[in-house]
Amino acid sequence: MNSAPTDPIAAFQQERHERIAGYAADTAWQELSTSWLRRAFEQRYMHNFSWLDRPIIQTPSDIIAMQQVIWQTRPDLIIETGIAHGGSLIFSASMLALLDISDAIEAGEKLNPRVTRRKVLGIDIDIRAHNRAAIEAHPLASRIDMIQGSSIAPEIIEQARAIAANYSRVLVCLDSNHTHKHVLAELDAYAELTSRGSYCVVFDTIIEDMPEDLFPDRPWGPGNNPKTAVWTYLKSHPEFEIDMSIQNRLLITAAPDGYLKRVA
Ligand SMILES: C[S@@+](CC[C@H](N)C(=O)[O-])C[C@H]1O[C@@H](n2cnc3c(N)ncnc32)[C@H](O)[C@@H]1O
Repeated sequence: MNSAPTDPIAAFQQERHERIAGYAADTAWQELSTSWLRRAFEQRYMHNFSWLDRPIIQTPSDIIAMQQVIWQTRPDLIIETGIAHGGSLIFSASMLALLDISDAIEAGEKLNPRVTRRKVLGIDIDIRAHNRAAIEAHPLASRIDMIQGSSIAPEIIEQARAIAANYSRVLVCLDSNHTHKHVLAELDAYAELTSRGSYCVVFDTIIEDMPEDLFPDRPWGPGNNPKTAVWTYLKSHPEFEIDMSIQNRLLITAAPDGYLKRVA
Protein backbone atom coordinates (compact mmCIF):
# COMPACT_ATOMS: atom_id res chain seq x y z
CA MET A 1 0.00 0.00 0.00
CA ASN A 2 1.31 3.46 -0.91
CA SER A 3 1.41 5.76 2.14
CA ALA A 4 2.66 8.81 0.21
CA PRO A 5 0.66 11.96 1.08
CA THR A 6 -1.50 13.39 -1.68
CA ASP A 7 -0.46 17.00 -0.97
CA PRO A 8 2.48 17.49 -3.39
CA ILE A 9 4.52 19.59 -0.92
CA ALA A 10 4.11 17.04 1.86
CA ALA A 11 4.89 14.24 -0.62
CA PHE A 12 8.12 15.99 -1.69
CA GLN A 13 9.15 16.46 1.93
CA GLN A 14 8.38 12.87 2.87
CA GLU A 15 10.34 11.52 -0.10
CA ARG A 16 13.27 13.79 0.80
CA HIS A 17 13.13 12.80 4.48
CA GLU A 18 13.17 9.08 3.64
CA ARG A 19 15.94 9.44 1.05
CA ILE A 20 18.17 11.41 3.48
CA ALA A 21 17.55 8.89 6.27
CA GLY A 22 18.77 6.22 3.83
CA TYR A 23 22.11 8.06 3.36
CA ALA A 24 22.98 7.20 6.99
CA ALA A 25 23.67 3.60 5.95
CA ASP A 26 25.79 4.53 2.92
CA THR A 27 29.24 4.17 4.50
CA ALA A 28 31.02 4.16 1.11
CA TRP A 29 29.60 7.60 0.31
CA GLN A 30 30.46 8.84 3.82
CA GLU A 31 34.07 7.69 3.39
CA LEU A 32 34.24 9.40 0.01
CA SER A 33 32.95 12.60 1.62
CA THR A 34 35.55 12.38 4.41
CA SER A 35 38.34 11.95 1.88
CA TRP A 36 36.98 14.89 -0.10
CA LEU A 37 37.08 16.99 3.07
CA ARG A 38 40.66 15.91 3.76
CA ARG A 39 41.70 17.23 0.32
CA ALA A 40 39.65 20.38 0.94
CA PHE A 41 41.62 21.07 4.16
CA GLU A 42 44.91 20.40 2.36
CA GLN A 43 43.95 22.92 -0.32
CA ARG A 44 42.46 25.51 2.09
CA TYR A 45 39.18 25.17 0.16
CA MET A 46 37.17 26.53 3.14
CA HIS A 47 38.96 29.87 2.67
CA ASN A 48 37.62 30.32 -0.89
CA PHE A 49 34.28 31.97 -0.18
CA SER A 50 32.78 35.28 0.90
CA TRP A 51 29.34 36.21 2.21
CA LEU A 52 28.19 39.67 1.08
CA ASP A 53 31.81 40.61 0.50
CA ARG A 54 33.42 39.35 3.75
CA PRO A 55 35.52 36.17 3.67
CA ILE A 56 33.72 33.33 5.48
CA ILE A 57 35.76 30.31 6.56
CA GLN A 58 33.11 27.62 6.12
CA THR A 59 32.19 24.76 3.85
CA PRO A 60 29.41 26.04 1.52
CA SER A 61 27.15 23.13 2.45
CA ASP A 62 27.38 24.12 6.13
CA ILE A 63 26.36 27.67 5.18
CA ILE A 64 23.24 26.25 3.49
CA ALA A 65 22.53 24.13 6.58
CA MET A 66 22.88 27.19 8.83
CA GLN A 67 20.43 29.06 6.58
CA GLN A 68 17.89 26.26 7.16
CA VAL A 69 18.57 26.13 10.91
CA ILE A 70 18.23 29.92 11.32
CA TRP A 71 15.07 30.20 9.22
CA GLN A 72 13.48 27.29 11.07
CA THR A 73 14.43 28.37 14.62
CA ARG A 74 14.04 32.16 14.10
CA PRO A 75 16.58 33.30 16.71
CA ASP A 76 16.66 36.89 17.92
CA LEU A 77 20.28 36.59 19.06
CA ILE A 78 23.11 34.58 17.51
CA ILE A 79 26.27 34.28 19.60
CA GLU A 80 29.39 33.31 17.66
CA THR A 81 32.84 32.58 19.00
CA GLY A 82 35.53 33.02 16.32
CA ILE A 83 35.13 36.07 14.06
CA ALA A 84 38.25 36.00 11.78
CA HIS A 85 37.34 38.15 8.71
CA GLY A 86 33.72 38.49 9.82
CA GLY A 87 32.04 36.46 7.06
CA SER A 88 30.04 34.27 9.42
CA LEU A 89 28.92 37.33 11.41
CA ILE A 90 27.73 38.99 8.20
CA PHE A 91 26.00 35.76 7.15
CA SER A 92 24.15 35.57 10.48
CA ALA A 93 23.30 39.27 10.33
CA SER A 94 21.88 38.85 6.82
CA MET A 95 19.69 35.95 7.94
CA LEU A 96 18.45 37.97 10.94
CA ALA A 97 17.62 40.88 8.62
CA LEU A 98 15.51 38.51 6.49
CA LEU A 99 13.73 37.25 9.60
CA ASP A 100 12.93 40.83 10.63
CA ILE A 101 11.59 41.51 7.11
CA SER A 102 9.45 38.38 7.22
CA ASP A 103 8.07 39.32 10.67
CA ALA A 104 7.20 42.82 9.42
CA ILE A 105 5.44 41.46 6.32
CA GLU A 106 3.49 38.97 8.40
CA ALA A 107 2.46 41.66 10.89
CA GLY A 108 1.54 44.04 8.03
CA GLU A 109 4.04 46.58 9.39
CA LYS A 110 6.36 48.89 7.50
CA LEU A 111 9.98 47.84 8.02
CA ASN A 112 12.46 50.45 9.13
CA PRO A 113 15.81 48.94 8.06
CA ARG A 114 17.58 51.01 10.72
CA VAL A 115 15.61 49.40 13.53
CA THR A 116 17.46 46.17 14.11
CA ARG A 117 15.70 44.00 16.62
CA ARG A 118 17.66 40.81 16.01
CA LYS A 119 21.41 40.86 16.64
CA VAL A 120 24.64 38.91 16.32
CA LEU A 121 27.26 38.90 19.05
CA GLY A 122 30.78 37.94 17.92
CA ILE A 123 33.61 37.11 20.30
CA ASP A 124 37.24 36.79 19.23
CA ILE A 125 40.55 36.91 21.08
CA ASP A 126 42.13 38.90 18.24
CA ILE A 127 39.92 41.14 16.12
CA ARG A 128 42.40 42.47 13.59
CA ALA A 129 42.08 46.20 12.92
CA HIS A 130 41.43 45.76 9.18
CA ASN A 131 38.75 43.13 9.83
CA ARG A 132 37.06 45.24 12.50
CA ALA A 133 37.07 48.27 10.17
CA ALA A 134 35.55 46.24 7.29
CA ILE A 135 32.86 44.71 9.53
CA GLU A 136 32.00 48.10 11.03
CA ALA A 137 31.76 49.63 7.53
CA HIS A 138 29.42 46.88 6.26
CA PRO A 139 25.75 47.80 5.58
CA LEU A 140 24.70 45.13 8.11
CA ALA A 141 27.01 46.46 10.85
CA SER A 142 24.15 47.82 12.97
CA ARG A 143 23.13 44.23 13.69
CA ILE A 144 26.55 43.21 14.95
CA ASP A 145 28.22 43.63 18.35
CA MET A 146 31.77 42.42 18.88
CA ILE A 147 33.72 41.66 22.05
CA GLN A 148 37.47 41.15 21.99
CA GLY A 149 38.85 38.62 24.44
CA SER A 150 39.13 34.90 25.00
CA SER A 151 35.73 33.25 24.73
CA ILE A 152 36.42 31.30 27.93
CA ALA A 153 37.61 34.25 30.05
CA PRO A 154 35.14 34.78 32.93
CA GLU A 155 34.66 38.51 32.19
CA ILE A 156 33.85 37.77 28.51
CA ILE A 157 31.39 35.01 29.44
CA GLU A 158 29.76 37.40 31.91
CA GLN A 159 29.32 40.06 29.20
CA ALA A 160 27.83 37.53 26.77
CA ARG A 161 25.42 36.26 29.42
CA ALA A 162 24.31 39.79 30.29
CA ILE A 163 23.57 40.48 26.60
CA ALA A 164 21.80 37.13 26.10
CA ALA A 165 19.49 37.91 29.04
CA ASN A 166 17.80 40.54 26.83
CA TYR A 167 16.78 38.01 24.16
CA SER A 168 14.36 35.12 24.09
CA ARG A 169 15.53 32.89 21.21
CA VAL A 170 19.27 32.34 21.22
CA LEU A 171 21.40 30.30 18.81
CA VAL A 172 25.08 29.63 19.58
CA CYS A 173 27.95 28.87 17.15
CA LEU A 174 31.36 27.81 18.44
CA ASP A 175 34.21 28.28 15.95
CA SER A 176 37.31 29.59 17.76
CA ASN A 177 40.17 27.58 19.27
CA HIS A 178 39.54 23.93 18.30
CA THR A 179 41.21 22.07 21.19
CA HIS A 180 39.13 19.67 23.32
CA LYS A 181 39.77 21.70 26.47
CA HIS A 182 38.81 25.03 24.93
CA VAL A 183 35.65 23.79 23.20
CA LEU A 184 34.52 21.93 26.32
CA ALA A 185 34.98 25.16 28.32
CA GLU A 186 33.00 27.04 25.62
CA LEU A 187 30.23 24.45 25.77
CA ASP A 188 30.14 24.79 29.57
CA ALA A 189 29.92 28.57 29.24
CA TYR A 190 27.65 29.12 26.22
CA ALA A 191 25.57 26.02 25.44
CA GLU A 192 23.18 26.73 28.29
CA LEU A 193 22.33 30.08 26.63
CA THR A 194 20.81 28.12 23.71
CA SER A 195 17.02 28.33 23.81
CA ARG A 196 14.95 25.16 23.78
CA GLY A 197 14.33 24.11 20.17
CA SER A 198 17.36 26.11 19.03
CA TYR A 199 20.89 24.89 18.29
CA CYS A 200 24.41 25.10 19.61
CA VAL A 201 26.53 24.46 16.52
CA VAL A 202 30.09 23.28 17.08
CA PHE A 203 32.25 23.68 13.97
CA ASP A 204 35.32 21.71 12.91
CA THR A 205 34.31 18.51 14.68
CA ILE A 206 35.54 16.90 11.43
CA ILE A 207 39.12 17.21 12.78
CA GLU A 208 38.46 13.92 14.64
CA ASP A 209 38.08 12.15 11.27
CA MET A 210 41.15 13.70 9.64
CA PRO A 211 44.66 12.21 9.63
CA GLU A 212 47.05 12.96 12.50
CA ASP A 213 49.46 14.98 10.33
CA LEU A 214 46.92 17.30 8.69
CA PHE A 215 47.31 20.16 11.20
CA PRO A 216 51.05 20.12 11.98
CA ASP A 217 51.15 23.70 13.27
CA ARG A 218 48.02 23.41 15.44
CA PRO A 219 47.50 21.99 18.93
CA TRP A 220 44.38 20.06 17.81
CA GLY A 221 44.05 16.77 15.94
CA PRO A 222 42.35 13.38 16.28
CA GLY A 223 41.59 12.75 19.98
CA ASN A 224 41.79 16.45 20.86
CA ASN A 225 39.22 18.53 18.99
CA PRO A 226 35.66 19.90 18.99
CA LYS A 227 34.10 16.46 18.38
CA THR A 228 35.75 14.89 21.43
CA ALA A 229 34.56 17.92 23.43
CA VAL A 230 30.99 17.44 22.15
CA TRP A 231 31.04 13.75 23.08
CA THR A 232 32.25 14.55 26.60
CA TYR A 233 29.74 17.37 27.03
CA LEU A 234 26.77 15.28 25.89
CA LYS A 235 27.48 12.62 28.53
CA SER A 236 26.19 14.98 31.22
CA HIS A 237 23.84 17.15 29.14
CA PRO A 238 20.82 15.17 27.96
CA GLU A 239 19.09 18.45 27.13
CA PHE A 240 21.10 18.40 23.88
CA GLU A 241 20.93 15.87 21.05
CA ILE A 242 22.99 15.63 17.88
CA ASP A 243 20.65 16.41 14.98
CA MET A 244 21.81 13.58 12.71
CA SER A 245 19.40 14.63 9.97
CA ILE A 246 21.66 17.60 9.18
CA GLN A 247 24.89 15.65 8.69
CA ASN A 248 23.02 12.88 6.87
CA ARG A 249 21.72 15.50 4.43
CA LEU A 250 25.04 17.30 3.98
CA LEU A 251 27.63 14.49 3.85
CA ILE A 252 30.15 17.24 3.10
CA THR A 253 30.24 18.99 6.48
CA ALA A 254 32.93 20.35 8.78
CA ALA A 255 30.55 19.79 11.69
CA PRO A 256 29.61 16.08 11.93
CA ASP A 257 28.08 15.50 15.41
CA GLY A 258 28.29 19.29 15.79
CA TYR A 259 24.69 20.36 15.13
CA LEU A 260 23.42 20.12 18.71
CA LYS A 261 19.70 20.68 19.17
CA ARG A 262 18.42 21.72 22.56
CA VAL A 263 15.50 19.40 23.21
CA ALA A 264 14.77 20.09 26.89
C1 LIG B 1 38.11 29.53 12.19
S1 LIG B 1 38.28 31.20 12.60
C2 LIG B 1 36.60 31.73 12.67
C3 LIG B 1 35.93 31.73 11.35
C4 LIG B 1 34.60 32.44 11.28
N1 LIG B 1 33.65 31.91 12.24
C5 LIG B 1 34.03 32.28 9.90
O1 LIG B 1 33.20 31.39 9.69
O2 LIG B 1 34.45 33.02 9.01
C6 LIG B 1 38.82 31.10 14.26
C7 LIG B 1 38.89 32.42 15.03
O3 LIG B 1 38.95 32.08 16.42
C8 LIG B 1 39.72 33.03 17.09
N2 LIG B 1 40.16 32.50 18.38
C9 LIG B 1 41.20 31.68 18.65
N3 LIG B 1 41.30 31.45 19.96
C10 LIG B 1 40.27 32.11 20.54
C11 LIG B 1 39.83 32.26 21.88
N4 LIG B 1 40.48 31.70 22.90
N5 LIG B 1 38.73 33.01 22.11
C12 LIG B 1 38.06 33.60 21.10
N6 LIG B 1 38.45 33.51 19.82
C13 LIG B 1 39.54 32.78 19.54
C14 LIG B 1 40.84 33.37 16.12
O4 LIG B 1 41.37 34.65 16.41
C15 LIG B 1 40.12 33.28 14.76
O5 LIG B 1 39.71 34.56 14.33
